[in-house]
Amino acid sequence: MFVLVNLKTYPCDPATVAEAARDATEESDARIAIAPQTAHLGRVAATGIETWAQHVAPVDHGSHTGHTLAEAVRAAGATGTLLNHSERRLTLADIDAALDAAERAGLETIVCANNPDQVAAAAALGPDAVAVEPPELIGGDVSVATADPEIVEKAVAAADAVDPDVAVYCGAGVSTGDDVAAAADLGAEGVLLASGVAKADDPRAALDGLLSGV
Ligand code: G3P
Repeated sequence: MFVLVNLKTYPCDPATVAEAARDATEESDARIAIAPQTAHLGRVAATGIETWAQHVAPVDHGSHTGHTLAEAVRAAGATGTLLNHSERRLTLADIDAALDAAERAGLETIVCANNPDQVAAAAALGPDAVAVEPPELIGGDVSVATADPEIVEKAVAAADAVDPDVAVYCGAGVSTGDDVAAAADLGAEGVLLASGVAKADDPRAALDGLLSGV
């Protein structure tokens, strides 16, 4: 089970969360990664935890002021990137170009999607994984696997019909070991989460709770 913790722009200390994740993963079979702000990639990668970018731009080296270059996040220590997160939407053409950029830089990819139809479209572009995250459940107290199990099952089927090699994850409201176990039962190979760890008073305890469901 892959557990990706997206720190978004939450006011947590990224290195503290990364160290907690590194220590938690040493006592678990789960694969954990942290996706901090771009400016924090180096600090997080320095802890030894698997580090992901929250986004890379669909551009190459050149005149692209203010964009996040895939090669730059790779050089900062990221080994993968989210794309098309619900809070950082891209056009289909830009997802395609950003996937090219990520591949050029040697980054693993997860393309986020709102629903099974978008999952199918994303899977057709050949990412390593897709993640279904209903926007209305993001940041809430009820996990996607509990609130809308059907969307996870349909996302798994939709991706499988397009390309069985594309892994399917789910996210939104995931914060407990039971949420992780429920996602796995529905066929998800991983979960994306944010607030359950980034807003926790004790990130290590939150991570241990999540990993109890793996
Ligand atoms: O990228 C994961 C995220 O969108 C889910 O957020 O706060 O519902 O765990 P949250």
